Amino acid sequence: MNKRTLIVGNWKMHMNTSQASMLLHRLHERIKIHRNIEVVLAPSMLVLQPLSMQIDRRKFRLAAQNAYHKDEGAFTGEVSFTMLQDLAHYVIIGHSERRLYFHEDLDLVRDKVAAAVRNGIMPILCVGETDHERKAGETRQLLHDQLTTALANLTASDVEEMVIAYEPVWAISTFGGQLAKPSDVAKDMEFIRKQVADLYGKRAASRVRILYGGSVDDQTVRGYLEIEDCDGVLVGGASLNYHKFSGIVDAAYRMRHESGDE
Ligand code: PGA
Repeated sequence: MNKRTLIVGNWKMHMNTSQASMLLHRLHERIKIHRNIEVVLAPSMLVLQPLSMQIDRRKFRLAAQNAYHKDEGAFTGEVSFTMLQDLAHYVIIGHSERRLYFHEDLDLVRDKVAAAVRNGIMPILCVGETDHERKAGETRQLLHDQLTTALANLTASDVEEMVIAYEPVWAISTFGGQLAKPSDVAKDMEFIRKQVADLYGKRAASRVRILYGGSVDDQTVRGYLEIEDCDGVLVGGASLNYHKFSGIVDAAYRMRHESGDE
């Protein structure tokens, strides 16, 4: 395993500037620099700027939770990827909350992924099915549709650098999710990598990082990181708690250490 394990904390619409600054301070105290672990924080748009001045870049990178796909213009209330260029290394795109609450459809997600790549920001593309879709046996078809449209305008080298988060919507706390068993989601993550291989070849598929994006915390993360196709996790609620989030980073570190590639 030579890819760095990627741990992303999605703070969602929580914490004002001073609360965010305090959380970063606590995380900084607890989390050490690990060569094989990459830790990314996704605060609210408002807080990106002050955190970018506070952050120790050897330890953390920043992600935005969303952006608009046009580079500039009369789009009241929006922030473009162009404006985020110096602030965010990654952008989360197509999170299930955006798809469900803000009606982001396949085409919009595709345009956002293209805009991120065009502006040199790495997309963390979220894909995943609802409980209803899973029960109806539509998971594969849905993942196929979400991936083929979102990746449509990219080259193989764009794809190999990006991140795809598998978020089974039924396993996210926002939607009253139950915990998914790692054995329940391993096949879906394998399927995602296979889809990338079919679309962009084996090299892109082996390099793209695939995260598990359902609920995890410091107690459960290990099971997901053990999944063969899992290169890290996208953490929601537990990323707001410095104890739990640093515990997740520690668990990832211990696993790398045990496998001999510290
Ligand atoms: P949760 O969110 O960890 O709070 O369930 C996960 C997510 O939104 O990816």
